[in-house]
Amino acid sequence: MTVRLAPSLLAADFSCLRSEIAEVQGLGVELLHLDIMDGHFVPNLSFGPPVVAPLLPHCRVPLDAHLMVSDPDPLVAELGALGVARIAVHVETCPHLQRSLAGVRAAGASPGIAINPATALVLLEDALAWADFVLVMSVNPGFGGQPFIPESIERVRRLRRMAVGRTLDIAVDGGVDRSNAGELAAAGATTLIAGSSVFGTTDRPGAVAALRRAIAEGVAR
Ligand code: DX5
Ligand code: ZN
Repeated sequence: MTVRLAPSLLAADFSCLRSEIAEVQGLGVELLHLDIMDGHFVPNLSFGPPVVAPLLPHCRVPLDAHLMVSDPDPLVAELGALGVARIAVHVETCPHLQRSLAGVRAAGASPGIAINPATALVLLEDALAWADFVLVMSVNPGFGGQPFIPESIERVRRLRRMAVGRTLDIAVDGGVDRSNAGELAAAGATTLIAGSSVFGTTDRPGAVAALRRAIAEGVAR
């Protein structure tokens, strides 16, 4: 199974996002992860469409937006119109999840469901029919650089079993690094989001290579 790498711009140097993007694209990453926060659903503010729009012409890989906002629906059309390829909304913020996911598809993007570490997986089971991917949070969202919650590996395994018979991309987000990437891949993750473990180091080629090695070992198990 192929496992894609998606560096998270949250850990990049915000004073030079364009060159940060160019560097990781040059390393062959498959996606770029955008953490959009409102200071309400999560206790932090990051960036939104006004920052994403001027970066888009410089992105050769698909953009993967993670909406950590209390009211995601109004942002969806705007991000879709910009050309963002994938948009994940949190199950915790969407009382009308089917409608929110349909809204993402109508905006021209691929819909995903993000889920916090302590939220029961059963809450998204019936909604898998309308989603292309699930973003399993392996930290409580809001900040980069937090320690990986080890129980997330078993959640990935359970979600993969829950999705048997479906084509579902399982993405994992938070504290992903070379020490857990292999186990995540073996458990059934197909996209790994990596903030600090890629952008937080000066040796980005070495960081991406180490993640790829860990993934290859995990997939081979
Ligand atoms: C956390 C964000 C993550 C974050 C990951 O709220 O959703 O995408 O950028 O960063 P690291 O890899 O440093 O945990
Ligand atoms: Zn994220």
